[in-house]
Amino acid sequence: MNQIASLPDRMTGQDTSTLSGVPETLLITLAARLTAARQNPDLHFVDPAAEAVGQALAFDPDRFAGDKASMRGSVVRGQWLDGVVAEFIQEHPHGLILSVGSGLDTRANRLSPPPGIDWIDLDFPEVVALRNALVPALPNVRALAADATDVGAWSGSVGWEEGRPVLVVAEGVSMYLDPIRALSWLQALAAKAVVRGSALWLALDLASPLMVAQSHRHPSVSKTGAKFSWGVRRPEEVSRAVPELRLAETYDVARHCGAASAAIAFLYRVLTLGRPVYSCALFRNSSDL
Ligand SMILES: C[S@@+](CC[C@H](N)C(=O)[O-])C[C@H]1O[C@@H](n2cnc3c(N)ncnc32)[C@H](O)[C@@H]1O
Repeated sequence: MNQIASLPDRMTGQDTSTLSGVPETLLITLAARLTAARQNPDLHFVDPAAEAVGQALAFDPDRFAGDKASMRGSVVRGQWLDGVVAEFIQEHPHGLILSVGSGLDTRANRLSPPPGIDWIDLDFPEVVALRNALVPALPNVRALAADATDVGAWSGSVGWEEGRPVLVVAEGVSMYLDPIRALSWLQALAAKAVVRGSALWLALDLASPLMVAQSHRHPSVSKTGAKFSWGVRRPEEVSRAVPELRLAETYDVARHCGAASAAIAFLYRVLTLGRPVYSCALFRNSSDL
């Protein structure tokens, strides 16, 4: 599906009524950023751009704030991914960052990428329209309306030049993808990196089959029209399906989402001989190892 559309520069009325289904889930992560200082002060998460977005939308994060594990989990996951992005920028200060399914996230605002970096936020047209209206603009950062899984449709228009290192970061996205589509997306990214001779980093969070099976019970996702579709038993499954993507690092998100989640994460690991119930992973291709 190719959802590239031409978009207005600025929207006039900004509200979330255009969001339904998977795009609506961006409100969960926005709520997490807005409630972080109040609910998780120990994480020291600071995001003035997210505050500005929340105010402009007149968005009440209390719709999701009661789901404390998800609120905390979104912030710790975001902080881990911020660290990966910062590391990529340090190693590749002239690289290309593709933030896939970026919703109303304000990662670029938090990290202020240097002038050599180009940063593209990809999401569906209705999300990009909101983003362009609400998220404070930065030089070298732009949003592109696209189905991010359709790599062939957008890869020619993002500045993915011969030999240029690329980081694809997808936060809170993979679990909403159709499983076959998800793997063909990752294969297409890896293949594009081979054709371009690019170092490729892929950083994303990965649900387990248990999370997918219990999606309808998820306290926040069940309030939207979305459900989880894709999960992996272990991050290594991605490398088995796409050998070009080698697992470089993992982060057990569930262990850091509060006592109840940590207990579930522990129990799940014991019962499944070490599988994470919910984790982040960084993959790198062979051009970068
Ligand atoms: C849970 S939200 C996460 C938003 C953002 N990454 C954050 O952390 O705040 C999931 C986002 O993925 C986007 N998304 C899901 N599938 C997508 C696809 N195939 N192409 C582009 N965006 C997609 C949705 O529109 C939504 O904005």
